[in-house]
Formats: sequence, C-alpha cells, structure tokens
Amino acid sequence: MRAIQLVLFLSFFYFSNPCLVLSNFPNDKCTPQDDTTYMFAYSNDIDSKKILDVVKRMPSIRLSRKFVKLARVRFDVQQPEEIVYHNNLNELRSSLNKSLPDPSLSYSNTSTGSDVISVLEKFLEKTKSPICGSRINFIVKRLPTEVNVESIIAKLRKYHIEVYFAISENTIGGNNHDALNEIAFKTNGVSIFLKDEIIDSGVFVTQRYAEDTLIYAANFNVSGQGTIELPPMTVPNKGGHWFLMSFQDDPVSDSFQSATLTCTNTIANNTFIFKDNIIEGRYEKFGVISPDLEEGIYTMKLEYKYDDQNVVRLFIRISTFVTAPPVDYWLPYDN
Ligand SMILES: *[C@@H]1O[C@H](CO)[C@@H](O)[C@H](O)[C@H]1NC(C)=O
Ligand SMILES: *[C@@H]1O[C@H](CO)[C@@H](O)[C@H](O)[C@H]1NC(C)=O
Ligand SMILES: *[C@@H]1O[C@H](CO)[C@@H](O)[C@H](O)[C@H]1NC(C)=O
Ligand SMILES: *[C@@H]1O[C@H](CO)[C@@H](O)[C@H](O)[C@H]1NC(C)=O
Repeated sequence: MRAIQLVLFLSFFYFSNPCLVLSNFPNDKCTPQDDTTYMFAYSNDIDSKKILDVVKRMPSIRLSRKFVKLARVRFDVQQPEEIVYHNNLNELRSSLNKSLPDPSLSYSNTSTGSDVISVLEKFLEKTKSPICGSRINFIVKRLPTEVNVESIIAKLRKYHIEVYFAISENTIGGNNHDALNEIAFKTNGVSIFLKDEIIDSGVFVTQRYAEDTLIYAANFNVSGQGTIELPPMTVPNKGGHWFLMSFQDDPVSDSFQSATLTCTNTIANNTFIFKDNIIEGRYEKFGVISPDLEEGIYTMKLEYKYDDQNVVRLFIRISTFVTAPPVDYWLPYDN
C-alpha cells in the first residue's frame, strides 16, 4: 500500500512538472530543454511561392522533441487571424499549404503599418500551449509604424522567448525596422534583412525548431573602421556550432565593406576566423558559418570596415549545431 502511494505520489510530481502541463498560468521557470511551442508567422504581403518554399524545406530540419506544439499565423490581413496550433510538422505544413498569402486579403493601402507586434502580444496571451522557451520565426514584408516595444520585450525576456525576424530588403508599410531590431537585440533574438527572392531562407539560418541552443550572444555598435574586443565566448562542449553575424541594421544601407571575427581558444591557442568572404550562402547583410569548435573559452576580436561613419547596431549569435549537445541554461541578456 505504501509503495503504491509512493508511486502515485511520484507520478503526480512527474506529471505536474509545470513545463509539461498546458496550464493557464504561464510558467517562466523553464529550461531550454523543457517542452514548448514553435510558431511560424508570415506576412500576407510575402509572395506565396516563398511560403511554399518554407513548407518544402521544413522536413530537412529535424524537429526537436521539445516542440510539442507547432503554431502558425498569417498576419497583415484586413481581418486579423487567430494563431492555429498543430501537433506535428506535417500538420503544420499542410495547414500552411492551405493558408498561403492571398493578396485579396491584404490591406488596401500599401502604406498601412504591419500588425507584427500584435502577433507577439496574441501569442503571449495564449494559454493553450507552453510559451516559456518558445521560438518564433517571422517573415516580414511590411514594417510597423511607431510602436513602443518596452513592455513586449520585458515579457519576451521573462519567458525566454526567442524571436527571429527575416525582413525584406524591399519593405512596404511603416518605416520602423528599429522596433524589430530592438526586440531582437534585447531578447538575444535575430533580425536580418534578405532579398525577396531568398526571404524563405531567413527561417533556416536561425535555430528555428531544431534542438540547437544559444551559447553566445553579443550586441555592439560600430562605425567607420576599427577593431573591437567582444566579450569572451564559453564553448561548453566540443562539436558543430552555428555562427550568425549581422553586417547591416537596416533594409537599404550598403556601406558594409568587410568584417573579420577572430575567435581564439585561450588554452589551446588555436584560432577560428570568420571572414565575410568565406561565409556560407549568398547573403549580403549578414553571414553564417558552421565550424567545429573545441570546448573552452575563446577571446573574440572583430575587425570591421564601412565606407561611411554611420553607427551600425550589430549582433553575433552562436548556437550548438547538430553534433554539439544542446545546453540546459539560458544566456543572460545584455542591455
Ligand atoms: C499543397 O496543396 C496542393 C494542392 O492544393 C498539393 O498538390 C500539394 O501536394 C500540397 N503540398 C504540401 C507540401 O502539402
Ligand atoms: C494610405 O495611407 C497613407 C498613410 O496612412 C495616407 O496618407 C494615404 O492617403 C492613404 N492612401 C489611400 C489611397 O487611402
Ligand atoms: C548602440 O547604439 C544605440 C543607439 O543608436 C543604443 O540604443 C544602444 O544601446 C547601443 N548598443 C550598444 C550595445 O552599445
Ligand atoms: C598563439 O599562437 C600565435 C600564432 O598562431 C602565436 O603568435 C602566439 O605567440 C601564441 N600564443 C601563446 C600564448 O602561445
């Protein structure tokens, strides 16, 4: 009898793990390994072929088991739509396939600002699915107008929500890309600019719904030409790592000339160099590369060159990638 009670008692605890329970009081104490939600959010102003390209490529990325719910929402439509939740990648894909961008649903005025921020608010209000530790990929064509993002940033930080904006270089709507940058910078997220023809790849250069976890995040300002020492990087486990570094912080500037990031292991004294001309993929305003790294602490030095003196707000994000195990801690936010 005692034994049975103990088993019942223990299993009660097991099932009451707050990150497993889909409760209506959101939990903010999750780790990067707890069950959570992935959402794909796409502007109705994007070419539907690009959303189909995302749908086609999705199976090439292994879905982490922690994403127990997969959500999608189409925004920038005259009648705002609800977030739809699915249980697996195939359900999500066929649901996307049936809800592609449809120009007849768009705002009639191309100057109207995007409702991208209200999508985040809606997601945070939902209690159907765990939000702590969730990830959201946005594809953005239309920019918001003036918005105050302070309270949304505080909430995203509280729940460790990772937001990745892939923004068209050729935007319509408002002109406030800074609001999206601000959200990404302050939450260890990502905001990158891509040509419309490759905007779908903006989903796949982020951590999206893979098991990979962030191990390094730095934000910094540069202008003109120079060298800066960034905070050191701790690589907890040897294996593959994914580097994403932005070179421009707005859709139109083309002042970027060159960038070289030198990462030196302080014990082994071996160096990994990430130069803008050896990046993987044909991106212009950011670069990605996926080297194998030894564990240890690395000093991080960035040399950069722009052909004007404007201040550019940049970020570097480094994640575990495929062969390096994910970590179980959140990186601190820097201000
Ligand atoms: C998308 O829908 C079309 C029919 O409307 C179908 O032929 C196609 O196979 C679907 N693709 C996916 C990936 O579900
Ligand atoms: C579109 O919106 C802009 C800004 O809100 C406004 O100035 C313009 O008159 C609108 N155009 C039309 C055709 O309604
Ligand atoms: C970069 O400059 C902006 C103002 O343009 C400022 O708000 C921000 O805090 C600066 N970021 C860093 C990391 O210094
Ligand atoms: C580290 O390696 C560099 C060459 O790669 C060398 O110049 C330097 O002296 C080495 N530093 C130490 C502490 O061994």
